[in-house]
Amino acid sequence: MPYQPSQVKTIGILTSGGDCPGLNAAIRGVAKAARDAFGAEVIGVLNGFTGLIENRIVHMSDRDLIGLLTSGGTVLGTSRIKPNKYPAQNGTFRDMTGACVETYRRLGIDCLVCIGGGGTQKNALHLKQAGLNIVTLPKTIDNDVAETDVTFGYDSAMTIATEAIDRLHTTASSHHRIMLVDIMGNNAGWLALGASLAGGADVCLIPEIPFHIDSIVAALEHRRSRGRRFSLVSVAEGAITLDSVGKKKQKIHTKKVSKSLAHEEGRHLASRELAVMLEDRLEMETRITTLGYIQRGGIPTPTDRILATQLGVKAARLMADGTFGVMIGVKGDHLEPVALEQVAGKKKTIPLDHAMIQTARLIGLNLGD
Ligand code: F6P
Repeated sequence: MPYQPSQVKTIGILTSGGDCPGLNAAIRGVAKAARDAFGAEVIGVLNGFTGLIENRIVHMSDRDLIGLLTSGGTVLGTSRIKPNKYPAQNGTFRDMTGACVETYRRLGIDCLVCIGGGGTQKNALHLKQAGLNIVTLPKTIDNDVAETDVTFGYDSAMTIATEAIDRLHTTASSHHRIMLVDIMGNNAGWLALGASLAGGADVCLIPEIPFHIDSIVAALEHRRSRGRRFSLVSVAEGAITLDSVGKKKQKIHTKKVSKSLAHEEGRHLASRELAVMLEDRLEMETRITTLGYIQRGGIPTPTDRILATQLGVKAARLMADGTFGVMIGVKGDHLEPVALEQVAGKKKTIPLDHAMIQTARLIGLNLGD
């Protein structure tokens, strides 16, 4: 049903930050509904905010939307570039906010839809403050964006991580091993805890609950005393030991690898160290599986397809109404606009009294504390 006449005739869409399943479904949702709602012209901005800075865009026709609902990744490309911190020479940065504003104006964009996680919400607020009309959608496998119950991408990643735990169970059981599975999620434990509950892990370590090795050893010894000759331990990338709370994270020092690769290696230190300690204390063969980027690849689940589409359509409706400067948050059964000021710079970690944590404790899933 056509919505109503709108001042918005041309929209831009970009995807920014780490990719996840459902981005293409969201692009399709926005574009289709914006066309139907107000006959909008749709411009795809390539590679996140880089496209705005460097004027890299594509005009998107109906044909460009074919196959997007089900495909993984993002057809627009993505990056972690910030408008106000564009890498220049010798490791320095330049503020390219002006270039973003100029591209937006030159292309006659009336509203820019930014699809991304926490970093994207910050960048979007920055551009809002520079005078652009912005609507954002929350996506990330980490599920850590503030002011939304859930982000799209989370369900797909949790499905992948759960399947991995299922598969690791059988091989752990055959070899009587401890299997550590290293799960993404940045500084939030949503993904690790969700997959651990769904996959029936024995221990789950999340950043919200610093862990103590003795607690894990006791839990695994207890399992062994009951005749269980294998165990499944999931470790969120942000998990930390009780001893290291408040201390600086250990860094990998080497000149041979890029800063980002060293950072990537640093993410897995907790599971590496833990594996060595567990093997030593329990004298059980231990193996580590790092799920890594597999969690971000491939097709979205039906839940993520639906959520991404609904968010995209809602974005079009808000633009038609002239509502800008907001992220669309999922609040129970509703999709509600939330001012970007309320979202940017905040992180949604798991509250310690959350139902998932209570459930974990009641079924004997050890949380390392
Ligand atoms: O935000 C999604 C995420 O996959 C995090 O779980 C992880 O910490 C990070 O992105 C990895 O980022 P990059 O793609 O830059 O290595």
